[in-house]
Amino acid sequence: MIRTRACEVLRIEHPIVQAGMSRWNTGAELVGAVSAAGGLGVLGCLDRPADEAVAEIRRIRERTDRPFGVNFVLHRRDEETFAACLAERVPVFSFFRGDAAGHDLTAAVARAHDAGAVTIHQVTTLHEAEQAVTAGVDAIVAQGREAGGHMGPIALSSLLPAVVGIAGERPVLAAGGIVDGRGLAAALCLGAAGALMGTRFLATPEAPITPSWQQAILAAGPGATVASGIFDLIWGEEWPGVQVRALRNRLTAEWVGRDAELAGVREEVLAGVQRAEQANDPEGLILLAGEGAALIDAIRPAGEVVRDVIGEAERILRAVNAYVVG
Ligand SMILES: Cc1cc2nc3c(=O)[nH]c(=O)nc-3n(C[C@H](O)[C@H](O)[C@H](O)COP(=O)(O)O)c2cc1C
Repeated sequence: MIRTRACEVLRIEHPIVQAGMSRWNTGAELVGAVSAAGGLGVLGCLDRPADEAVAEIRRIRERTDRPFGVNFVLHRRDEETFAACLAERVPVFSFFRGDAAGHDLTAAVARAHDAGAVTIHQVTTLHEAEQAVTAGVDAIVAQGREAGGHMGPIALSSLLPAVVGIAGERPVLAAGGIVDGRGLAAALCLGAAGALMGTRFLATPEAPITPSWQQAILAAGPGATVASGIFDLIWGEEWPGVQVRALRNRLTAEWVGRDAELAGVREEVLAGVQRAEQANDPEGLILLAGEGAALIDAIRPAGEVVRDVIGEAERILRAVNAYVVG
């Protein structure tokens, strides 16, 4: 067993949180499996309509009576979905992109607290960490630039200890590139109270993503991802100042670094991505993944991932203890 303050605050057995990766990449099967295994499963609510969120929450509750969470990206928060999750008394609310992006984290945290929920905020800079503390969140996620999807500017190795210094009593979870017990053990050594993983949980049978995306994650080696602004340009989404990390493929070889040119032919490029979706051609798709994809070599059930990450971290922490002599 590994017990940290994150277990106490989030009321979970193992200090492992599954990232709430939007409507498109999470569902009751994944969230329920992670929570049932003693971690914290989180339902992504970005783009998710209220009635669907309620239906998924009920399906999660059919799978487990343990705590789970919902995730909101604050600059794209849908009020109806948010109110529905509050009414459902979801135990944990997690947030991303708060005050630093001009969106009221303090109000969101207060409303979640009023509904009896515990709150988590994911930060990518020290300024965001300070705002999370001011907003009164219960736990913080420090997301390093190794992360898949929308990510921040700072490597986890320097961000994490600094955020731990700001967080005070609050547990800090490490995110970005962590996929196994080695990553969890390293994060604990840097002061984290646990880990949040996105990409590792994409490579599970419960993740609602295409087999070709999962196979691309398995095939990835070191250096297989790239961080760029082109993906949001193609989608037509606005996340000012934020880049997205995805696997390299034909699409990235053609467009990364050519943002200005791409803006002029966005619709054509988007149509190409949509054609690749229909043809199931991973070379033309946007395949979000973190740098940790290099270390993932099998699709494994989400509950097994939770147990194995903890087991491996335990073995490593016991082994490194033997280095201490005298
Ligand atoms: C496919 C994908 C979608 C994501 N969507 C969200 C999201 O909707 N909300 C959020 O807070 N973070 C989102 N993230 C970022 C995660 O919260 C987390 O920081 C990241 O997955 C950690 O890095 P890792 O993928 O290397 O584990 C997403 C990440 C991925 C890979």
